Amino acid sequence: MNITKAMIPAAGLGTRFLPVTKSLPKEMLPIIDKPILQYIVDECINSGIKDIYMIIGRDKDTIIKYFSSNITKEHSVKIHFIEQKEPLGLGHAVSLGKEGIGKEPFALLLGDEIFVHSNPILKQLIDVFQIKNHSILGVTKVKREEVSAYGIVQGEKTDSFINIKSIIEKPSPQEAPSTIASIGRYILTPEIFPILETLEAGYHNEIQLTDGLQKLLEIQNITGVFIQGKRFDVGSKIGYILGTLDIAYHHEKYHDDVKNYIQKLFL
Ligand code: UTP
Repeated sequence: MNITKAMIPAAGLGTRFLPVTKSLPKEMLPIIDKPILQYIVDECINSGIKDIYMIIGRDKDTIIKYFSSNITKEHSVKIHFIEQKEPLGLGHAVSLGKEGIGKEPFALLLGDEIFVHSNPILKQLIDVFQIKNHSILGVTKVKREEVSAYGIVQGEKTDSFINIKSIIEKPSPQEAPSTIASIGRYILTPEIFPILETLEAGYHNEIQLTDGLQKLLEIQNITGVFIQGKRFDVGSKIGYILGTLDIAYHHEKYHDDVKNYIQKLFL
């Protein structure tokens, strides 16, 4: 089955990126000359997505304005906006896409992570979904001291996949069952929606997608795919700095200037 619908939640408060997020969603911060969200929309387009459901919050106007006057029209993708009135958590944001998505499996891309690889990360996951026909999570190995920033999975592992048995949100380094983290790219089947609707608030008093995935595991296999490529958590200040630097360094127009400047810093 083909994946043609994607959801991009971009309604969080962005507290890690204060003060700029007092008036600008972090997903609209520019990397060189494009907002972060444009990189994610491009990943969707390059992975064959036709409809994008963007979950937007209190500073929605700037997102709507950008995408309404934008080149995406020239591509074959349509962007639909859904308002999350209160940031009750990622699980809640995803539940709002139910009507648009309907009964199809769909892609979920978090609005504050970008990846650099010639084969889009979403495409890597779609290729595995087409074989497995159940929900797929992008995963990567992290350092033990970093586990408390992620949903951590545990299960039977090969070089490329993990057959997930459990997932836990932001465990401490001591209690983490592994150091394999779920990253911001997923293929989910619509069975997730009724689960999210009845879910109670969990970690940080937010409705957590991770808790919904743990419940989904009771009725469906979920495969983790070790993603190929560089990942930048551009919702954190250091991730944003490094992501900008990496993209500028590999940019045809800016490569030489960036390289010369970095070399000068070490003289
Ligand atoms: P994060 O937890 O990274 O976003 O959610 P946040 O809450 O804005 O971050 P901080 O910790 O306060 O800095 C991952 C993605 O899910 C969206 C966010 O916009 C982000 O792209 N999200 C999160 C929502 O759309 N709604 C929510 O209620 C929570």
